[in-house]
Amino acid sequence: MPHKEIDTQTPGDARTDRLKPRRSGPMWRRIAVAAAAVIAAAGVAVVVRPALAADNPYQRGPDPTPASISANRGTFATAQTSVGSGNGFGGGVIYYPTDTSQGRFGAIAVVPGYTATWAAEGAWMGHWLASFGFVVIGIDTNSRNDWDNARGTQLLAALDYLTQRSSVRDRVDASRTAVMGHSMGGGGAMYAAQQRPSLKAAIGLAPAIFSANTANVRVPTMLLSGQNDGTVTPSSVVSNYNKIPSGVEKAYLELSGAGHGFPTSNNTTMMRNVIPWFKIFVDSDTRYTQFLCPLGNWSGIRSYQSSCPLVPSPVPTTSPTGSQSPTPPTEQRYEAETAPAVCQGTIDTNHTGFTGSGFCNAANAVGSYSEFTVNAAAAGTASVGVRFANGTTTARAANLIVNGATVATVSFEGTGAWTTWVTKNLSVSLNAGSNTVRLSPTSANGLPNIDHLNVSAA
Ligand code: GCU
Ligand code: CA
Repeated sequence: MPHKEIDTQTPGDARTDRLKPRRSGPMWRRIAVAAAAVIAAAGVAVVVRPALAADNPYQRGPDPTPASISANRGTFATAQTSVGSGNGFGGGVIYYPTDTSQGRFGAIAVVPGYTATWAAEGAWMGHWLASFGFVVIGIDTNSRNDWDNARGTQLLAALDYLTQRSSVRDRVDASRTAVMGHSMGGGGAMYAAQQRPSLKAAIGLAPAIFSANTANVRVPTMLLSGQNDGTVTPSSVVSNYNKIPSGVEKAYLELSGAGHGFPTSNNTTMMRNVIPWFKIFVDSDTRYTQFLCPLGNWSGIRSYQSSCPLVPSPVPTTSPTGSQSPTPPTEQRYEAETAPAVCQGTIDTNHTGFTGSGFCNAANAVGSYSEFTVNAAAAGTASVGVRFANGTTTARAANLIVNGATVATVSFEGTGAWTTWVTKNLSVSLNAGSNTVRLSPTSANGLPNIDHLNVSAA
């Protein structure tokens, strides 16, 4: 990750920032516009495409303006449907755009704070967010006393329900999901981000962070605080903001005069900043960076920091006819703690930063193992990423055993700490269908701790 300069703004800085030239859009866009002008000037017949919008298949809705992001509705008509408990979270409400003509929408799961219900504290924002082009699930928790980690686990369960089993699953793009929460739910959003780095965005609203360490967060994260919040103070939120590593996109806003309850009823100041964050990172929609880089509207904002320029993940490229190029091979993750995987040792949770619900701590003995069953659509070479941590300073060697045959010896270097997880990519020949991939140590030092495998066809 490139180091990013952190751009700190206070209201007094705003004027200087406004004097700086604004980027008019992504490079390709400026080039395309310039090229079209040159061709037109040369008198060559050109077919003018109606909108460059189509170049980003994730972009939804018209070009935003300061007024449009401050309105309490976007342009999409929305509907809602209720979800019962029993899906890994305490039930909730799904809000979704009714338009099915534009492809799928990114998804956002939102959880309220300690002892609060979605109906009482979150529901005001459901249609508001959805009308800007997102499928939103606002949840209740299994218990109103659930702590931040339980709230985070339930946010992820809600996203999985939404994208895999809900009645609106065909409207949702499962590869573009995000989380948000208030107070204990904000700590939950950070916990979810730490557990699932593939999330596109996370937002903590006056976040009470107990179980997560924002130093482990790799998801673009916005944190908001209220000036007069004595429960989750602005300085505690700033300190969590500062711990998010440079190289991870982040922003911090302190709302003037706001208390701890600022996200529990209609709040335009919050929404006109939250919506661009989700647009930039869930939809890779760079039309929205103008509002945050630099901050365009200081009304109700006491201080602001960010990692501007905010750069989202790239979108799939489109051909000149607008048709989408073949999607890259999908990556499948196999958790070491989830059957049919076998851990000849214990499934542990004591070192944070793992994905899923734990990791395999194989016995420190020759012959112990962590084994996965992976599926391949066709025979061929697959890229297999092994996510591991080795908190010792001695590399640990292991046999890579595929379908019973030892095909390589792999060295797992020290990663600096048991909580520092890294991925080592191996090239593995797989049969069509089911395969076993086993890692087994060659010395009594044992294996590193094993988190998961990421498998994609090469
Ligand atoms: C420590 C660490 C374990 C690890 C073990 C080892 O006990 O907490 O997670 O598996 O060392 O050396 O293998
Ligand atoms: Ca071990």
